[in-house]
Amino acid sequence: MTRRPHDFDALYAADVPPPWEIGRPQPALLALVRRSVLADPVLDVGCGTGVLALAVARAGHRVVGVDAAAHAISRARERVAEAILEGPGSVRFEVADARGLDHLDVRPGTVLDSGLLHSLDDAGRAAYVAGLEAICGPGALVAVLAMSVAAGLGWGTTSEVLQGAFAGPAWTSTAVSDAEIVARPAEDELHLPALLLTTRRA
Ligand SMILES: C[S@@+](CC[C@H](N)C(=O)[O-])C[C@H]1O[C@@H](n2cnc3c(N)ncnc32)[C@H](O)[C@@H]1O
Repeated sequence: MTRRPHDFDALYAADVPPPWEIGRPQPALLALVRRSVLADPVLDVGCGTGVLALAVARAGHRVVGVDAAAHAISRARERVAEAILEGPGSVRFEVADARGLDHLDVRPGTVLDSGLLHSLDDAGRAAYVAGLEAICGPGALVAVLAMSVAAGLGWGTTSEVLQGAFAGPAWTSTAVSDAEIVARPAEDELHLPALLLTTRRA
């Protein structure tokens, strides 16, 4: 199952927060950010309301967050206005479609994807990765956290799909490990099986 960008925008516009809005970055990506040396600028694709992008900026990085949902970007910009950013970090947010990243005026040293790729169909995923290939310079790190089909939601991705998306001469050191996505569909949080892909632009 895939969701079109305007479906996401409607979810952000609703009174109830969408289930992935847990009020903090996904722990699996935050842990990766903390244990890695991130090259700037950092691009957060499908940044939603900007919680991860802001956390990375607070750690001193120059961050650009993009999302197709205008309501999410609007909330992300409000978060920036409310945030106190000390030190060298900075963050800005733009409405942009992940399937056309080659139009983006950013040449990222690091790309973070917290829950976007798994919502794209085959053609969308191919366009997304082609755009990443176009904008990432040699050595750029790409990290993707995606829902696993093992979560039993009737959608999600597999290690084979992720490995296949980043196969070929443009990508190196590609690895996929088991991880978790935290969701809050109601009061209580759920910890769902997920996959964490890391790769580098060759
Ligand atoms: C599951 S949400 C995750 C949001 C955020 N990264 C987080 O961790 O809270 C997936 C996000 O991807 C965005 N998205 C989906 N399709 C997109 C596309 N084609 N281009 C850009 N963003 C897209 C949605 O609007 C949504 O914000």
